Amino acid sequence: MRMYDLIIKKRNGNSLTKEEIDFIIQGYTEGQIPDYQMSALMMAIYFQGMNEEETVNLTMAMAHSGEMLDLSGIHGKKADKHSTGGVGDKTSLVLGPMVAAAGAPVAKMSGRGLGHTGGTIDKLESFPGFSTSLTPEQFTENVNTIHMAIMGQTANLAPADKKLYALRDVTGTVDNMSLIASSIMSKKLAAGADVIVLDVKTGSGAFMKTEEDSFALAKEMVKIGNKAGRYTSAVISDMDQPLGFAVGNALEVKEAIDTLKGQGPEDLQELCLTLGSHMLVGAGYAKDLEEARKKLEQTLEDGSALRKLAQFVEAQGGDSAAVFDTNLLPEASIQEEIPAPVDGYLAHMEADEVGSACLILGGGRETKESVIDLSVGLVLKKKVGDAVKQGEALAVIHANDRDKLEAAKKRFLTACSFTENPVEKRTLIRGMLS
Ligand code: URA
Repeated sequence: MRMYDLIIKKRNGNSLTKEEIDFIIQGYTEGQIPDYQMSALMMAIYFQGMNEEETVNLTMAMAHSGEMLDLSGIHGKKADKHSTGGVGDKTSLVLGPMVAAAGAPVAKMSGRGLGHTGGTIDKLESFPGFSTSLTPEQFTENVNTIHMAIMGQTANLAPADKKLYALRDVTGTVDNMSLIASSIMSKKLAAGADVIVLDVKTGSGAFMKTEEDSFALAKEMVKIGNKAGRYTSAVISDMDQPLGFAVGNALEVKEAIDTLKGQGPEDLQELCLTLGSHMLVGAGYAKDLEEARKKLEQTLEDGSALRKLAQFVEAQGGDSAAVFDTNLLPEASIQEEIPAPVDGYLAHMEADEVGSACLILGGGRETKESVIDLSVGLVLKKKVGDAVKQGEALAVIHANDRDKLEAAKKRFLTACSFTENPVEKRTLIRGMLS
């Protein structure tokens, strides 16, 4: 088999066989196929697409390119959640403790963020001492004893995807449905959970800007998961404006804690109840979504989800004092309101631009080496559909540097548009697939 022939085959619109895909992925992972040939193939796939069978074969080849985690030492069905990424998305910090407190084992592998804000691991580092460098034995032990653990992505998890994603990032081949679906699902399958619940975002702050594309991506990923023998379902949720009010690492941790106390933003709580219900049903801890939702609501009402967060932080070496006193979380030295420039209604808030404002403040990473400032970010005071008066606060900006604050403020204002007439509030949950 020659890579050259396979590039031509795909360029001409033909399908690749399982053997050919295995040859490509193995050759690329081992360094026998150079980046320039792989780039050409990715571009051919970008234009010609892949059918369902090719997408499943690509996913399986990438999942098996490294270690397939063995979670068989964990009792019961293990549930994991994956979000396609968005601004202000602190769902894992709320959902994990809720689902674990309702009895289902949450075995999650998370990453650090590259972009607007940190990832779940960065956010959790707001608790001094917290670490995700667990051995597989510690991970198993923690899930068995407290029903929840989060581990950093191991270097050998789907290495083919790691290499390929970096290549796609610089060759204009990220936003292809089959490539995104196989990339995400290869990592999820290798991470070993029995139940995979996907939160597929849609809107200006998401990979998929239209609902049609988001549903198509969700469908593709659910199909792959089910074909691989994992219970997989997807929720399509709005990311046309940030989720909740807080954007920025420690600020999001605070909002997650408030939500676990039952005092969080409605949209965040609703999303966690919806995703969590799918996890509980999939793992067999509730007979249907209605029963699951009641169980999860109970964990918020009786404080068990909040206590679970503290237990989980402690079990991973962190100081959990801030769970019960959020004043202990990192705090920025300057806090300043951003006033509304006009009277009217907030018509749109471009999620990506709000994320960029947070990045300007130092809350995200521009390169892998960047050091994140956990304390900075924005707390929204208005969401789409809200009435505003000129001079009234649209958001409070948390900064440690006045120049960055001014630049972030400008960026935030470009994210907002206003109308004189009332606008409808956005619906958060756009659909579900299972
Ligand atoms: N996230 C991934 O992990 N892979 C993609 O291709 C896109 C988003």
